[in-house]
Amino acid sequence: MTDSEQDLAEAQRRHWQNTYTDHPGMYGELPSAPAVHAAELFRAAGAKDVLELGAGHGRDALHFAREGFTVHATDLSATGLEQLRDAARAQGVDQQVTIATHDVRDPILLPDMSVDAVFAHMLLCMALSTKEIHPFSCVGIPGFRRCGKRISGLL
Ligand SMILES: C[S@@+](CC[C@H](N)C(=O)[O-])C[C@H]1O[C@@H](n2cnc3c(N)ncnc32)[C@H](O)[C@@H]1O
Repeated sequence: MTDSEQDLAEAQRRHWQNTYTDHPGMYGELPSAPAVHAAELFRAAGAKDVLELGAGHGRDALHFAREGFTVHATDLSATGLEQLRDAARAQGVDQQVTIATHDVRDPILLPDMSVDAVFAHMLLCMALSTKEIHPFSCVGIPGFRRCGKRISGLL
C-alpha cells in the first residue's frame, strides 16, 4: 500500500469503529435479503462453512449461523465484530461463529478448503479500488456469482 492508501485505510477503519460505537447494531437484527437468498444457494450447493467479509455487527453472519452453517466473520472494525460476538452468545450460536479483524485489501490467511462459500454484502461499495477488489472477487473462485448489485460466491 502507498502512504495515501494507508491513510485512507486508517481513516476508513476509524470511521467504522466510531460508527459502530455510536450506533450499536445499526443495521438491525433482521438479515439482508441477499443473505437470505445466499443461504438458500449455499444449502442447495451442500456448503457448510461460510466466510463472510465485511460482516459488521453480524446481522447476516448470525442468520447463516441460525440456519446451521458455521461462519467465519471478518471485518475492518473490531467494534462491529465485538457486537457480533455478543449477539452470537445471546442467540446461542457462538459455537458456530468465529470472528477476526481483517482488511480485504490484505490477503486472508485460511487453511486450504476451510470454507465452502464466501459472502459479502455492502462491502465492495466501500472505499476500495478496482485493483483491490478484483483479485478476491474473480480469481480462483469457480462458480462465483453476483446477486444483483451485491456479491456472494460459492467456492
Ligand atoms: C455498509 S457496512 C455493511 C455491513 C454488513 N455487511 C451488513 O450488511 O450489515 C460495510 C462494512 O464493511 C466494513 N469495511 C469497510 N471497509 C473494509 C475493508 N477494507 N475491509 C474489511 N471490511 C471493511 C465496515 O467496517 C462495515 O462493517
